[in-house]
Amino acid sequence: MKLIAPSILSADASRLGEEIADVEAAGADWIHVDVMDGRFVPNITMGPAIIGSLRKSTKLPFDVHLMIKNPESHIESFAAAGADYITVHVEAASHLHRTIESIKKMGKKAGVSINPATPLGAIEEILPEVDLLLIMSVNPGFGGQKFIKSSLSKVRRAAEMIAKLPKKPLLEVDGGVNVENIGDIGNAGADVLVAGAAVFGTKDYKKTISTLKATANADKG
Ligand code: DX5
Ligand code: ZN
Repeated sequence: MKLIAPSILSADASRLGEEIADVEAAGADWIHVDVMDGRFVPNITMGPAIIGSLRKSTKLPFDVHLMIKNPESHIESFAAAGADYITVHVEAASHLHRTIESIKKMGKKAGVSINPATPLGAIEEILPEVDLLLIMSVNPGFGGQKFIKSSLSKVRRAAEMIAKLPKKPLLEVDGGVNVENIGDIGNAGADVLVAGAAVFGTKDYKKTISTLKATANADKG
């Protein structure tokens, strides 16, 4: 079964706790939390204090996507805040192997993320060490952007790389995922689908999440 991870970047920020509880009740599998620092990406969002206070709103795993420079300096505080998966960008971490090790030492699942313009070769060496590979299918920074079509072949190639590994990380796709393209992305090999605007931009979360899940899992062969 493929997992749906609503991104709370597109939720009503004045009611984040309720929005999280609502998507949990609607069938979400994970909660995707976008952390932006205004340096690695142009936007600024939330930090460990808010994440810590949201932790009591749900039992679902927190999938924390760090779009920040020097992520190694902040791993401990996100771990303490209740992150389950902590994902750092290959473009932002200068000693990626050490950062991934430190996430695992804290008892958390470690993820690596890759921007649209970064070739898959950049994560080849670290792939056997991680629990999650997050492929960005938009340039990170904002919700509601258009899925970059070439990402589909990147997802397919990443799935082939993963298939060769003894310990297979989950393959997650983030950016512009919606009801129209989620079937193709699922078929390309994604295990976890992030959806922000496609979930929070609709009224009936339950209906939307069931449609996303059913479409993502429909094998077109
Ligand atoms: C983009 C973020 C995404 C974003 C996805 O920088 O990493 O998680 O919230 O939002 P949609 O699904 O609206 O593209
Ligand atoms: Zn994200």
